[in-house]
Amino acid sequence: MGKILNIGIIGVGTVGISVIKTLEENKEIICARTGVDIRVKKGVVRDLKKPRDLTIPLSTDIEDIINDKEIDVVVELMGGIEAAYEVAKKALTNQKALVTANKAMLAYHRYELQQIAGNAPIGFEASVCGGIPIIKALKDGLSANHILSLSGILNGTSNYILTQMIQNHQDFQSALHLAQKLGYAEADPTLDISGGDAGHKLLILASLAYGIDAKPQDILIEGIESINADDIEFANEFGYAIKLLGIAKKQNNQIELRVHPAMIDKNKMIAKIDGVMNGISVIGDRVGETLYYGAGAGGNATASAVISDLIEIARGKSSLMLGFEKSPQVSLKPKDAMESRYYFRLSVDDKSGVLAQIASILTQNNISIGTLLQKEIKHKNIAKILFSTHTTTERAIKNTIAQLQKLDSIIEKPYIIRIEDE
Ligand SMILES: NC(=O)c1ccc[n+]([C@@H]2O[C@H](COP(=O)([O-])OP(=O)(O)OC[C@H]3O[C@@H](n4cnc5c(N)ncnc54)[C@H](OP(=O)(O)O)[C@@H]3O)[C@@H](O)[C@H]2O)c1
Repeated sequence: MGKILNIGIIGVGTVGISVIKTLEENKEIICARTGVDIRVKKGVVRDLKKPRDLTIPLSTDIEDIINDKEIDVVVELMGGIEAAYEVAKKALTNQKALVTANKAMLAYHRYELQQIAGNAPIGFEASVCGGIPIIKALKDGLSANHILSLSGILNGTSNYILTQMIQNHQDFQSALHLAQKLGYAEADPTLDISGGDAGHKLLILASLAYGIDAKPQDILIEGIESINADDIEFANEFGYAIKLLGIAKKQNNQIELRVHPAMIDKNKMIAKIDGVMNGISVIGDRVGETLYYGAGAGGNATASAVISDLIEIARGKSSLMLGFEKSPQVSLKPKDAMESRYYFRLSVDDKSGVLAQIASILTQNNISIGTLLQKEIKHKNIAKILFSTHTTTERAIKNTIAQLQKLDSIIEKPYIIRIEDE
């Protein structure tokens, strides 16, 4: 022993505290594996009065870490987008290595950071699916492969809510409240339930897999807020699970990126990933399908990933550059051109002629029905029409929904869920 790696942690909250505790408690094994003593020299927080039960010196001034010549690595665990990006830029400009768990910042600024970093190491294993080593799998383990597709449950909060709705027949609001009570959902759960958080992670994975530079606003992102018991009943009836999936696929030179609830065959491995757990399936052209499963969040699981980056830096590996080589050949597939099968939920006045009107609109858009489930709500004179379609495009679906909405007999906005067959 003899070598020391000094780190400064900006943001000593849930993840920061776990990083410090894990480095202390697992010091022996980490030293044995790296030959380096990884020491936390300082931390930066907003509020020095908060109790934290730590012995490391804390300050509220980011410059205390950025300008400390003895600090080799800046670990950014403060969250947010623009302020964190400024910290990351300053750290790299001051010749420090950077480790971050911040998927939101990377979703917007990963390519700019890569340019600033040059050959400086940037570790971001913790930014996607907490403890699952999916970044290293894509950068190292699968690097001999063309990635044909990847799809995953990238957000534990929404997976927990869906699991409650499906297994315990809760409605969306009660499942969300339970998730908040148990600490699985934040007071403001918007990013988790709207698909935004999964979108951030998908963009990071897609950059590694395909070299595609896209921002959240460029891709299709839908959340789980509108799923109800009818959708779950239809899924059960026809052998599907409903999961919020992040999907990246390459077809010819177009990359399809989307996050949305999806009905998938309930016998697929990924369909069995329940509760707060995350899982990702990656299909490589040589290796075939590989599956990754584990805790997507939580202080300890996320700290495990942060420290794996610190260990790589301590070992002096140079492969820690972001690895987002832009590919000039690929482009983002336009949202309207994406194809899928779809499930529809329609609430209509229960009177004669309505089905014929709906059928006519579907025919005009070249959409044919696969399976159909019709339910009557007797006392209200409302019929629920639940059906799946054969493969069609987003464009045709949008047109169909717009036309259906104009019918007097349609009671609420038609709702669709995409059906993933592959
Ligand atoms: N929690 C997870 O399970 C998890 C999983 C994967 C990735 N991540 C990512 O990890 C990062 C940290 O998450 P977290 O859950 O640890 O958050 P957190 O518990 O809210 O901690 C954030 C820390 O940053 C400090 N901070 C915030 N803004 C600051 C500023 N402007 N200047 C100085 N310090 C500032 C806070 O100070 P105070 O303590 O004084 O308020 C706090 O110590 C986020 O990017 C998050 O997306 C988290």
